[in-house]
Amino acid sequence: MRLPVWGQTDAAVAGASQLLLGVDYYPDQTPEALWEEDSRMMSDAGFTNVRIAEFAWGLMEPAEGKFEFAWLRRAVQTLHKHNIAVILGTPSAAPPPWLSLKYPEIVEVNAEGQRLHSGGRRFTCPTNKVYRRLSLAIASEMARAFAESPGVIGWQIDNEFTLSSSPRCYCNFCQAGFQEWLRAKYGSLDKLNQAWGTVFWSQSYTDFGQIPVPLPSGGDPNPGLALDYDRYQSYANASFLEEQLAMLRQKCPRHFVTTNNVGPPVDYIDLRELYKNLDFVAFDNYPGFFEMLVHEQMKSGSISAGTISTATAMGHDFARCVKGGKPFMIMEEQSGKAGQKTFSPQPEKGQVRLWTYQAIAHGAMGVNYFRWDTATFGAEEYWHGVLNHDRSKSPAYDEIKQTVKELKGLGPKVLNSGYPAEAALIFDYDCGWALQIQPGHHGLSYMPQVTAWYGAITASHSGIDVIQPGADLAAYKIVFAPVAYVLSEAQAARIRNFVQGGGVFVTSFRLGVKTESSQIVRTPLPGLLREVMGVSVEDYVPIYSVKQGVKFSPPFAGSDGECGLWADILQPSGAEVVGSYTAGEHAGKAAVSVNRFGKGKAVYVGADLDAASLARVLRTLTASAGVQPAIDVPAGVEMTVRKAGDKEWIFLLNNTSVVQTVTIPRAFTDLLTKDAHSGTIELSGYGVRVLA
Ligand code: GLA
Ligand code: ZN
Repeated sequence: MRLPVWGQTDAAVAGASQLLLGVDYYPDQTPEALWEEDSRMMSDAGFTNVRIAEFAWGLMEPAEGKFEFAWLRRAVQTLHKHNIAVILGTPSAAPPPWLSLKYPEIVEVNAEGQRLHSGGRRFTCPTNKVYRRLSLAIASEMARAFAESPGVIGWQIDNEFTLSSSPRCYCNFCQAGFQEWLRAKYGSLDKLNQAWGTVFWSQSYTDFGQIPVPLPSGGDPNPGLALDYDRYQSYANASFLEEQLAMLRQKCPRHFVTTNNVGPPVDYIDLRELYKNLDFVAFDNYPGFFEMLVHEQMKSGSISAGTISTATAMGHDFARCVKGGKPFMIMEEQSGKAGQKTFSPQPEKGQVRLWTYQAIAHGAMGVNYFRWDTATFGAEEYWHGVLNHDRSKSPAYDEIKQTVKELKGLGPKVLNSGYPAEAALIFDYDCGWALQIQPGHHGLSYMPQVTAWYGAITASHSGIDVIQPGADLAAYKIVFAPVAYVLSEAQAARIRNFVQGGGVFVTSFRLGVKTESSQIVRTPLPGLLREVMGVSVEDYVPIYSVKQGVKFSPPFAGSDGECGLWADILQPSGAEVVGSYTAGEHAGKAAVSVNRFGKGKAVYVGADLDAASLARVLRTLTASAGVQPAIDVPAGVEMTVRKAGDKEWIFLLNNTSVVQTVTIPRAFTDLLTKDAHSGTIELSGYGVRVLA
């Protein structure tokens, strides 16, 4: 029997006592004399659990086949004595020096064809059988040693698959693995040659062993091959995880198993594939660090308000939907200044609590703060934890303690509740990868488009799921799919049925350009969805120096929009034109169209609209689809609803540093303060309310 906190049903949750409100801890980096004090202090702070050992391979296997778990057993026992439960990490993200020296072929080859060097972490090949064997061996020994240990409750396999400066491997083992994967996928070379169109540039393969990986070759790779290679690398990492998972299921049937990663904008691995057979999703969440990275990339200028909180919210909505709405965990939550060579500012007072609640508000059931203490050595000396370098309490210590106490007060029923959404945004890795291979315009990439759409829609404060292609659309009133560049026949059929049955489907330029093999469709665009959209694309125009604009008509009437990177020039064949281009030879031609199809509507946003125009269009559509927020909130405040049976909890999050006032439609109790409110309710800067 697994502990019920990661169960799904109300019945399972009712009796739950084990919450996951912990810290990431490194007894391997801490003198043993301090473990007792650490455990006691964690317990005082209210933490329920730690995650440990995910980078301790060297201590657990100091020489090949020589395993030493006595130290780890003592650490687990000490923690358990203080009622701190343990999530164990398997250590395959960082092999010890003896391993990479003895087996140099396990080291990854990057996209330029250069072999990486050992010395950092995540420098290994996901395909290599020797590395898989050794990773499985250490994980199996750990499982054997800790399957029955009191206090051990679950596992994290590896750590942040593919998250490094070189996320994909291009070595000979990956090439052979790719060829094997292709053989299974296509069955015959004939099919593969057809699917990729290898006759182009004389690339027809007469043996699977001839197929290369997309390394520099003096010209761009075949787009079909390149897209399949992205899929293969995703598969290779997921199947690496699956080997350890199968073993853990067998040896530790009472323990849960997950892995940690980050959601979009990092998209090197299809996370649905990675988490498919795990018990729940665990993500790492560093909003302040992310903000610092955005600053570094921009070099100058300011980030517009809401950018970081919106991107973070999207990551949470994505996390929740990876396993169809099941509550997820934050395995690492930023607790202080964060960074490796440079670090972010100290989160402002209230921000760490706010970030925690934001995750909970979007469907998280547990949070671990990264990390307990702050390392005084190693590459992450600058990554500040719950304790400072001198082991004094960090500036956010009290806030974290308060938050943990509050979350315990809310209890497992709230933390394991669902998240109702009537709107959905499709996030499709194939579209992202295919656009990265051939963006069409140097500025065009999938993530920023999806994020811009998410931001425009969520301003309506109605719950939204971030779903995968293939997901059932019937539950939604409105479905958004920006830049649906690769479109399978099955997905086109699902969309067609959805609209036919009364749904509103909203999509953008570059719709249906490519097949799943990354070939361009042979019909006028938008290919498979031409009839549903009621338009064909007369021309598609990347925009460089010549400006283009859009004039709107009802229901979107308002100031003219700017068209950024792209303009699909539409030719209506039944659809109503609700926006037209304003400049150049395409002036007056259709830019935005609405088609009635079956009982529903299909909306084509042909222009890459500026943020304000996009928000007006998408919010108008959301409202007219009958999707309404539970409470109208001012800009800078976020509102979400969690639900279990007929119980509902409303989360109000102030993402700004100033006081905000929200008008509430009826009387509510704030579950955190137990105060009753009606009329209006105030939120302090970065303040949070949980209303019922
Ligand atoms: C990650 C990792 C951790 C640690 C923290 C801080 O996301 O999973 O091991 O590196 O970030 O950098
Ligand atoms: Zn490799």
